[in-house]
Amino acid sequence: MANRAWWDERSHLHGEALFYNIPQLVGGSSSLADFEYDEFLIGEAKSLLHLQCHIGTDTISWARRGVQATGLDFSESALIQAERIAKRCEVETRWVVADVYDAPLALQNTYDIVYSGKGALPWLDDIDGWGKIVSRLLNPGGRLYLVEFHPISWILGDENWTISNDYFSSGEPHVESGIQGSYAVPDAVTTFNTTAEWQHTLAEIISAIASAGLVIEWLHEFPFTYFQQSPILEVNDDGKYEVPAGYPRIPLMYSLCARKPFADK
Ligand SMILES: C[S@@+](CC[C@H](N)C(=O)[O-])C[C@H]1O[C@@H](n2cnc3c(N)ncnc32)[C@H](O)[C@@H]1O
Repeated sequence: MANRAWWDERSHLHGEALFYNIPQLVGGSSSLADFEYDEFLIGEAKSLLHLQCHIGTDTISWARRGVQATGLDFSESALIQAERIAKRCEVETRWVVADVYDAPLALQNTYDIVYSGKGALPWLDDIDGWGKIVSRLLNPGGRLYLVEFHPISWILGDENWTISNDYFSSGEPHVESGIQGSYAVPDAVTTFNTTAEWQHTLAEIISAIASAGLVIEWLHEFPFTYFQQSPILEVNDDGKYEVPAGYPRIPLMYSLCARKPFADK
């Protein structure tokens, strides 16, 4: 499958990429955004599953907050990097190679928290299926914590702040070919250069979660992001990219917490 080959090749390179700043993580800092600390408290939770964990930087950061963390990704190469980085950080974690849609079978476990971080959902074709998988992976009373780039932001053109793309998806994947490197290693020479991504609207994502039986507790929207999504965005001292003063602001990221109810007695 094209996406897996793309991620296998990039993950190997991302383990050394400045973008992920592994030395800083090894030194004790966190890869999670500040707002992730402020808005989502671990509370009594003991276990966390990170879906599509990539090279595990966020999984390791969650483990440092005191939960038993498991990272799952379909790229074996990503998890080889994750294991290596966790060892350097001296943090105990479990890594499982599996497709998200096969996660319940691969893990044979349920969790107090399921976390899905920045840039995960566009790689999935079936968002309703994803919601059902998340629900199966949660303990009763457990919570989904989802942090994503806002789908409304994809309507903007790469070069300027004007509407250039449809918000609503045709259901077909957006296939891109022939672009070497990645967001983290833009200058790398790479062989597998085809990806397929799916645009899910906020309504589709929320409906997928609600129709899987989870109760949405809150939804937050943010006027900043964490990469140079458009040349007009300006980066501030804490790594947030925002529109300059005078430009209209739209949400560039969102986060959501949803709880799996306890079964009826
Ligand atoms: C953009 S990365 C996630 C980045 C992560 N939030 C971080 O900052 O490190 C997307 C990850 O999704 C994984 N992935 C894509 N499709 C998948 C699938 N169907 N099942 C499991 N993992 C998948 C890729 O291997 C990749 O590691």
